Amino acid sequence: MTMTDLTQSPAWLKLQEHYSTIKDVQMRELFAEDPQRFNKFSITMPETLLLDYSKNRITDETMTLLCALARQSNIEQWRDKMFSGKAINITEHRSVLHNALRNCADTPVIVDGQDVMPNIKAVLAHIRRFSDQVHSGEWRGYNGKKITTIVNIGIGGSDLGPHLVCESMKAFAQEGLKAHFVSNVDATHLVETLKNIEPETTLFVIASKTFTTQETMLNAHSARSWFLEQVGDESAIEKHFVAVTTNIELAKEFGINEANMFEFWDWVGGRYSLWSSIGLSIALYLGMDHFEALLEGAYEMDQHFQKTPLEENIPVIMALLGVWYNNFFDAKSYGIMPYSQYLDRLPDYLQQLDMESNGKTTDRNNKRIHYSTGAVIWGKPGTNGQHAFFQLLHQGTQLIPADFIMPIESENSLEEHQEVLFSNCLAQTEAFMKGKTIDEVIAEMKQQGCTEETIEAIAPHKVFEGNKPTNTLLFQRLTPKTLGSLLAMYEHKVFVQGIIWNINSFDQWGVEYGKVLAGQILQDLSKTDPVNNHDASTNGLIDFFKS
Ligand code: F6P
Repeated sequence: MTMTDLTQSPAWLKLQEHYSTIKDVQMRELFAEDPQRFNKFSITMPETLLLDYSKNRITDETMTLLCALARQSNIEQWRDKMFSGKAINITEHRSVLHNALRNCADTPVIVDGQDVMPNIKAVLAHIRRFSDQVHSGEWRGYNGKKITTIVNIGIGGSDLGPHLVCESMKAFAQEGLKAHFVSNVDATHLVETLKNIEPETTLFVIASKTFTTQETMLNAHSARSWFLEQVGDESAIEKHFVAVTTNIELAKEFGINEANMFEFWDWVGGRYSLWSSIGLSIALYLGMDHFEALLEGAYEMDQHFQKTPLEENIPVIMALLGVWYNNFFDAKSYGIMPYSQYLDRLPDYLQQLDMESNGKTTDRNNKRIHYSTGAVIWGKPGTNGQHAFFQLLHQGTQLIPADFIMPIESENSLEEHQEVLFSNCLAQTEAFMKGKTIDEVIAEMKQQGCTEETIEAIAPHKVFEGNKPTNTLLFQRLTPKTLGSLLAMYEHKVFVQGIIWNINSFDQWGVEYGKVLAGQILQDLSKTDPVNNHDASTNGLIDFFKS
C-alpha cells in the first residue's frame, strides 16, 4: 500500500471507527470519570514548558491510535532523515537543515559530503563580531555617529521571524537601539518608517534569501535612494547597508561590500530561517548572547523531539491532535491565542510557518490528495480576542481548536495584572470545555429571579455546547530561550503533520504563480493602449487603474 492510500491505511481506518464512538462524548464527562486526566494528558519539559492537552476530545484509546498513525507514517525515520541532512525537500532537491543552525552539540552535519557546522559557526562568529561592534560604537555611521536604529527590509520568512522575536523580546533589547521592519511594497510602509529616523544613525539590513524578491529589492533600492538624497555620498552606503542572503553575487551588484554580507544556505527554508543570519536583526537588537539563548532553546526542543518516545513527545502530540480535528472532526481552522501582549505577532509568524508548509494538494508520490491538509491558522492575544471573535468560538457552528499560550511570570509587574490575565486564560479554556447546558442555564436564571417568560425566551441563547478542544502551554517566563523552544516546537509540529499527510512541507510553488503574473501585469501597466491579453476582469481592472 502506498501512502497515497492514507485514508485507507490500517491506522486511519481504526481512527475512523474510533471517531464514530467518541464524536458525541462530552469532555466534561471524561473529566468527571477520571480525576487523573490532567496528569495523564499533560507533558512537562523540565525548565521549559508544560503542555496540558487534557481538554481535548480524546481517551487513552484515541492517543494509542493516533500514535499508531504516527508510527505507520514512519515519523521517527523521517525525523532522522531531516536531522542527518537527507534531501527530504524532494521538489527542490534540498536538505532541510534549519536544525543544524542551532546544533549546540557541534556534532558534524554532512551535506554533499561536507560538514556544514564550521560554516555555521563562522557566520555566527561574524554576527557576534558585527553586533558587538555596533553596540560598542566601534562600528559607526559615515559621520562618526553611533548606530541607534536598525531597519530590517525583507518579507515572508526574511521578516516574520526576526520581527516576531524582536517584538516579543523587547524587554531584553539593547539600550538605546530601535528596530523597524519594512516588508510591504506599499510605499506607505517604507515612507512612514523613514519619517521617524535619521540616515546618519540608521543601519539597513537587507534580508533576502534569494536577493530577487520584488518587494524587498524595490524597498531596498528606495531606501538607498532616500539615504543618498539625504547624505549625497555613495561611499557612505557601506556603513549603513548590510545584506543577509544566500546570493552573494546579487548583493554585491546592489553595492554591498562583501565584508558586510552575512551568508546562509539553500538548505535553510525561508520560513525556517530566523535561526540563520536572517537573525542578524535579532542579534543587533537584543545582543548576541540573547540570540544564542534563542538558539539554545530551540536546540533543547530539537533534543526533546529527537529523543522522546512519541507518546511523550510534545510536538508529535500537538501534531496528532491537529490531524485528529482537521481530518476526523472536519475542523478547518486553528486558533493561536497567546496570553502575552509580547506574543502579538506569533499568529502571523505561525501562519507562514504552517500554511506555506502544509497548504498542499499534491503528495510525495506526485498524486492529487483527497483528504484535508493544512488548516487556516489565525489568532490574537488574549484578552483582546475575548472581546472580539471568541463569541464565534464559544457559540458559533464551527469547531475551532486552539492553543492557549502563557508565561507564568510577566516581564512587567503591575499588581494584579498577571493574575487577571491568567484567570481569563483559564476561564476561556474551562468554558470551551464545559459549556453550559440548558438545565444549568435555567437553574441559574431562576436563581437570579427571572420570570418563566424571560427564561423561555432567553435561556436557549445562553446555552454553550462546550466540548471545544484547547491545548494550554505554560512556561515560567517569556525569555529568548523559552521563545526558541516554543518556535522549534511549532516547526516540528508542522513537520510531523506534513509527514502524516505525505506532503513536502518545504517547498512553496503556490506563491510562484502570482509572482510571474504580477511581472506581466506590471509590464501591461506601462502600455498606453487598452490591454486584451488577460481575462475580461483583469483587462478591465488594468485599464481602470491606468485611466
Ligand atoms: O513568498 C514566498 C517566499 O519565497 C517565502 O517562502 C520567503 O520567506 C519569502 O518569499 C521571501 O523570500 P526571500 O528571502 O528570498 O526574499
